[in-house]
Amino acid sequence: MLPLIVENLRFTGQHGPIIKGVNFSLNDAGVTVVMGPNGAGKSVLLRLLHGLLKVNSGQILWNGTGLNEALRKRQSLLFQRPVLLRRSVLANLRFVLKQRHISADDETCLNLLSRVQLDHVAYRSARHLSGGEQQRLALARSLALKPEVLLMDEPAASLDPVSTKMIETIVRDQRANNTKVIFVTHDVSQAHRVADDVLFLHHGEVLEHTSASTFFEQPQSTQARQYLSGEIVV
Ligand SMILES: Nc1ncnc2c1ncn2[C@@H]1O[C@H](COP(=O)(O)OP(=O)(O)OP(=O)(O)O)[C@@H](O)[C@H]1O
Ligand SMILES: [Mg+2]
Repeated sequence: MLPLIVENLRFTGQHGPIIKGVNFSLNDAGVTVVMGPNGAGKSVLLRLLHGLLKVNSGQILWNGTGLNEALRKRQSLLFQRPVLLRRSVLANLRFVLKQRHISADDETCLNLLSRVQLDHVAYRSARHLSGGEQQRLALARSLALKPEVLLMDEPAASLDPVSTKMIETIVRDQRANNTKVIFVTHDVSQAHRVADDVLFLHHGEVLEHTSASTFFEQPQSTQARQYLSGEIVV
């Protein structure tokens, strides 16, 4: 169980500030959806939370502790475009388990693959899977590590409805299993379906962090209102 406190977080890239001193805290349960226009800093924020980028100043406290290797292992970050090994579907799964020294027999792996409906292609090359299937394999790989925090960066962007639905079902299952999910999406209907709370980012600042119902029904900022009504947000 890893509640999160972010204090005065700043990150600057080559071309200037990207995350501009943000403060928020998240419960250790439920699904937090991160929304905001292109370039708002959503992916950078997720990478900072997972320690893939180094903060310039401020703090990220998971259960009161700064990120360390042990904490990182309790999280998993799923990218929009998964990076898979040029090996079979099953071997991709076995590889991550072996890296973490988790023993898993074929039956356990096949069970995981059946959760994302890939057991029938277990022995096929992962590179030959469709985009949606690759994302489902990446998700199975994440789940295999039993993360307490699942960070998902637009996991269903440009996927077919079947894969999208499967991902949302798994998000709900994980939530029911007390996994904290932080989920970036541009899809407003999807956010409606999965969010408990919404963090709205704009130009590297948190403009809103409220319950999902408040965000969708009474967004406070002009930018969130424009975003939700499909207008261009500048
Ligand atoms: N690793 C990095 N180092 C420095 N700057 C970065 C890095 N990654 C992204 N940026 C810059 O940070 C800004 C925010 O990018 P980010 O990818 O977080 O946006 P986003 O909100 O995820 O947008 P999108 O909805 O298009 O995915 C962009 O201007 C981008 O060029
Ligand atoms: Mg992004």
